[in-house]
Amino acid sequence: MFFKRKPKQQNNETMDMARIPKHIGIIMDGNGRWAKSKGLPRKAGHRQGAKTIENITDYCASIGVEVITAYAFSTENWNRPKEEVDALMDLLYEYLIQVEEKFKNDRTKFMVSGDVSRFSPKLQEAIAHAIDVTKDGDRIIINLALNYGGRDEIVRASKKLYGDICENKLSVDDVNEEVFSRYLDTYGLPEVDLIIRPSGEQRLSNFLLWQAAYAEFWYSDICWPDFSSADMDAAIIAYQKRDRRYGGV
Ligand code: IPE
Ligand code: IPE
Ligand code: MG
Repeated sequence: MFFKRKPKQQNNETMDMARIPKHIGIIMDGNGRWAKSKGLPRKAGHRQGAKTIENITDYCASIGVEVITAYAFSTENWNRPKEEVDALMDLLYEYLIQVEEKFKNDRTKFMVSGDVSRFSPKLQEAIAHAIDVTKDGDRIIINLALNYGGRDEIVRASKKLYGDICENKLSVDDVNEEVFSRYLDTYGLPEVDLIIRPSGEQRLSNFLLWQAAYAEFWYSDICWPDFSSADMDAAIIAYQKRDRRYGGV
């Protein structure tokens, strides 16, 4: 089966299974260009992209990745034509209905980062349900970034923090980076080790601004719907060659 496959050799190099990144962020980009190159509507690219994240989640679980945070809809993506936004919302709903049972059975934990309050009540309900029924999953966490923007996340965190200060749950003098990070959507998850962006773009597009502080980056020209386990291997092998100094020598 796809996800049971042993990590395959890339350029005669193998992954060090003892140093697999714990938390990988993925900017799932290039769905539209993938569809265009095949003469298909953009929605077909998004549908294929949803299948790819399902496969990649399974593959990452099989090699010991603990968390994937996958950028599925940004705070800026509302600026797309209504028809595309609607298509993305429909696909998200379909995805949730489809994966919920599977995630429950294979112990995948579903989480969300982002402000889902702007979504329809039906979608919000499906998200809450998927989170609830998979909450005990211990195989891998798939954290979907939905209506997510790094700046928005920091603003929302600041407001929550301010609220706690006003209610005397916290004093300003106690605020430090560790305390602040508890107010972010990613609270409780391990540090992001590696951020992957396919499709040839080399920017963050408002993804995980705080969390990316010491993440390694890996880019590829491949469009997200074509991203395979071999591409994931290549990203991890490249990551394992980096020297993460964290400001030291
Ligand atoms: C990423 O693919 C998916 C979302 C942003 C929702 P795009 O739709 O951005 O695809 P391109 O970049 O136009 O090819
Ligand atoms: C980033 O891709 C957002 C997601 C993948 C969900 P975009 O396609 O929206 O980013 P830009 O516009 O190229 O920066
Ligand atoms: Mg794009």
